[in-house]
Amino acid sequence: MKSNGSIRSPEGEGSARGGYGKLFRDDGYVHRDLYVQQSLFEDEMAYLFGSTWVYIGHETEIPNPNDFVRRRIGRRPVIFVRKEDGALDVVVNRCPHRGALLCRFDRGNAKRFTCGYHAWSFENSGACVAIPLRHAYGDDFRLEDHDLLKPARVDNYRGFVFASMSPDVPSLIEHLAGAASYLDQWLDRGTGQKMIMNNGSMTFTCHANWKTVYDNAGDGYHPPFSHESMLRVFARRYGDDTDMSYFPSGTNEGPMISRDLGNGHTIIDQRPAMHAQSAWKRQHVHPGREATEAAILERFGDEGGMKALDSSTGAGMNLSIFPNFMIVGNQVQLLDPISVNQTSIHWFSTSLEGAPAEINATRMRMQEDFPSFGEVDDTAQWESCQEGMEGVPEMEWIDIRRHMATGQGRVDVDGRETHPVTSDLHMRAYYRQWLRVMNGKACGASDAVGK
Ligand code: FES
Ligand SMILES: [Fe+2]
Repeated sequence: MKSNGSIRSPEGEGSARGGYGKLFRDDGYVHRDLYVQQSLFEDEMAYLFGSTWVYIGHETEIPNPNDFVRRRIGRRPVIFVRKEDGALDVVVNRCPHRGALLCRFDRGNAKRFTCGYHAWSFENSGACVAIPLRHAYGDDFRLEDHDLLKPARVDNYRGFVFASMSPDVPSLIEHLAGAASYLDQWLDRGTGQKMIMNNGSMTFTCHANWKTVYDNAGDGYHPPFSHESMLRVFARRYGDDTDMSYFPSGTNEGPMISRDLGNGHTIIDQRPAMHAQSAWKRQHVHPGREATEAAILERFGDEGGMKALDSSTGAGMNLSIFPNFMIVGNQVQLLDPISVNQTSIHWFSTSLEGAPAEINATRMRMQEDFPSFGEVDDTAQWESCQEGMEGVPEMEWIDIRRHMATGQGRVDVDGRETHPVTSDLHMRAYYRQWLRVMNGKACGASDAVGK
């Protein structure tokens, strides 16, 4: 049997796929089952992650021939590799023999992967190259019938590599839709150096559904409340006008925006507030700040120096790319769903290749800042939501109505909706795409979900 033949359709025999529309109400509510039902989680892992482009990693994580890191597509373990010839690839980390994980190291450099169970051996391109005691399989046994499974499509947008288990997806650029131009803005910000992502990641696991974590990155409503103690400490130490103090706590929601970028991708753009004058000047005090500023201004002059310093602060964007990939400030965030109420969260920090050491050191200090001081607030809320949603079956619906009916949104010339930053636009956009993909219609007709 050939192990890497066509990938079985999620709609294959025995599939219970369908009926997901009842989880959504046009008046802006989604059902708690999306966050608490294990069988629905299993459907998501099979169909959602099996039917769309999923972010795998950045090319600079594996700079040398034969470098690899382990990743997942839903719960499918995969290996992201740079092959001997320098090309990037993705292979499924599941031995075709009895199913063991072939590679059990998170990262490394290997031309071949040899299974720890019965020692079947594979090139990092996926080709089966040796098995022990082969005679017992008979004369018609062919190594090439036992290659590793591979995603149907692998593609790369400016170093960000995505894979799709299904061949039936639009091109990656079509899938990225309006998110591509925001990726460009994120990559091209600053003083022209290339973004590199080779600092490893900070990883932790929380007891919450993976979509609660994803929803939060586009939620411009919660910061002054969930992060109140952090903001108060910052204000007391550094003054009222630093960091995230620009998030609205009164009636004024401008000038930041929430945008629907198509295909479930969204952004909250903090730059109109954060970068209104100088992002560097907004950034709170940290050790070495004065010396960094003096050294950079002396080296690059006032204008160039300030541009370089601004690039060391957060990017002012929370860009959420369907279904589980986010850019938050200068960092990349990736969600690994573990079970319906457990999620691993990876934060990858970034550097600028060839930038002054002071700039990259400052970037690193700032990137340590938010997960360390802010993510604990968020995690407490996510776990609390999970406990409340799981514990009270009588309350079936989750409210995602903000700014549905205020008339404060607009439709831009590109046809995309833009709302005040505290809108729930991001969740409505996400679930429209969720339903399309789960129903197997991601390339076709759209389904309305409380627009
Ligand atoms: S399970 Fe991998 S060689 Fe047997
Ligand atoms: Fe938060």
